[in-house]
Amino acid sequence: MLVAENLDGFYGRAQVLFGMSLSVGAGEVVVLLGRNGAGKSTTLKSLVGLVELGAGSVAFEGTRIERLPSHRIARLGIGYVPEDRRIFTDLTVMENLEVGRQPARAGAAPWTPERLFDLFPNLAAMRDRPGGRMSGGEQQMLTIARTLMGNPRLVLLDEPSEGLAPVIVEEMARTIRTLKAEGVSVLLAEQNLHFARAVADRAHVVEKGRSRFAGTMDALMGDAAARAAFLEV
Ligand SMILES: Nc1ncnc2c1ncn2[C@@H]1O[C@H](COP(=O)(O)OP(=O)(O)OP(=O)(O)O)[C@@H](O)[C@H]1O
Ligand SMILES: [Mg+2]
Repeated sequence: MLVAENLDGFYGRAQVLFGMSLSVGAGEVVVLLGRNGAGKSTTLKSLVGLVELGAGSVAFEGTRIERLPSHRIARLGIGYVPEDRRIFTDLTVMENLEVGRQPARAGAAPWTPERLFDLFPNLAAMRDRPGGRMSGGEQQMLTIARTLMGNPRLVLLDEPSEGLAPVIVEEMARTIRTLKAEGVSVLLAEQNLHFARAVADRAHVVEKGRSRFAGTMDALMGDAAARAAFLEV
């Protein structure tokens, strides 16, 4: 579904990605693991046109997207949820969802607020509440829900478990497994190995802007050197 090869990524003149490659199959959940500053967020941004690319290619369902602007990539079906929550604080939950609405995609039932309230039950109870009067975890859920209103086929989630209370982290893991069951592919950046094991089929370990390991979660658990590359000491 998504194949990125040999990406060199830059912020101005500073190179941050060095020949990064990764792939996400249809219906797969793939996690990028890496220490602070390893290049996880930059890798996600490089897939949606938010990082300057010196070299490399990104193909999404057979279409080359590495030179396309972000809004066109979104329209092709890649949803991106950045690290910082980007809800409209003056708009209600319902209004935030409407802002994200995009046409349905062939072969998949479109997301509606009602379907999303099944997926995020605590949002259902606050549909008329302004976004600014929600907790961080609730805002995180709303950001993901609003992205799903665009009916993406692949969702990029940057540290979805970060800063959430343990019970909400469990809920987030359930949500990601439900998305997979609904046929949505997921690529997430994480530092929480426990969370990654609960949701992911495969992992890429990112170190200093390079892919250090690629394989199944089981293979990663059996590879002490790959784990040492991202676990904080
Ligand atoms: N906007 C920016 N301008 C310049 N350098 C940046 C920018 N954003 C990140 N960097 C640098 O790029 C490198 C990779 O950062 P990135 O944010 O991708 O790491 P990360 O793996 O997501 O880390 P974290 O776990 O802290 O979120 C770091 O050295 C960082 O300092
Ligand atoms: Mg990051």
